[in-house]
Amino acid sequence: MADLIPFSAALRERSSSAHSSSERSGFMADLIEGAGTREDYIALAAQHWYIYEALESAAERMRRDPVASVFISDKLTRLPALEADLAFLLDADWRERISPLPTTRAYVERIRQVGATWPGGFVAHHYTRYLGDLSGGLFIGRLMARRFGFDTNGIGFYLFDEIADPRAFKEVYREQLDAAPWDADEQERVIDEVLRAYRFNTALFEDLAAAKADAVA
Ligand code: HEM
Repeated sequence: MADLIPFSAALRERSSSAHSSSERSGFMADLIEGAGTREDYIALAAQHWYIYEALESAAERMRRDPVASVFISDKLTRLPALEADLAFLLDADWRERISPLPTTRAYVERIRQVGATWPGGFVAHHYTRYLGDLSGGLFIGRLMARRFGFDTNGIGFYLFDEIADPRAFKEVYREQLDAAPWDADEQERVIDEVLRAYRFNTALFEDLAAAKADAVA
């Protein structure tokens, strides 16, 4: 079956129900549907900071890997935008005002682990975040800007200034996935790692909802 359907299509298909669970998670659904608050939006941005710090540090190491480096592009880098967003949303002392939730700690630990040892696993995490950011993320950014009155300050994370055509960028990314020299077993492992990445994202929304409920109680 390996050659009947391109790897990128198999990956998308095999992860589509994990995507739906993530997308429908209460915390995210509330933000999208207007029940989420500005504080919820900021709480999510703070967790993103830890995740992208890990992902983009791993990318620095993986630039030396012939397979993983193909996927790495400065155009995707999110950390400077996230830091500017947090400084705007929380103030200059934002670093002292944020802390990682339990799922974020575990997610970051996993990114660091595969980022140091396993190019395919790194690509799995890279794909799950950045292709998501270039898909639903763009829509979420526009929605949040409207809802909370952001212009560009506060939503820099969702603005990819250097990617004029996200659709074309994603097409090239998928071609690169299809061209990666992974045998069937490695492709399976990469898909499993993408599913793991989705589980982290869904669990993070659950942590955020729980933290919010604790704050209210
Ligand atoms: C309310 C939240 C979300 C919405 C509305 C949403 C929406 C979408 C849409 C419409 C696409 C298809 C774009 C296309 O075909 O080019 C997509 C793709 C994608 N999303 Fe999401 N998404 C959400 C949450 C997430 C989350 C939490 C993740 C994981 C971190 C994620 C990861 C992805 C990935 C990796 C793709 C690319 C799939 C592929 O083409 O291979 N999404 N999303």
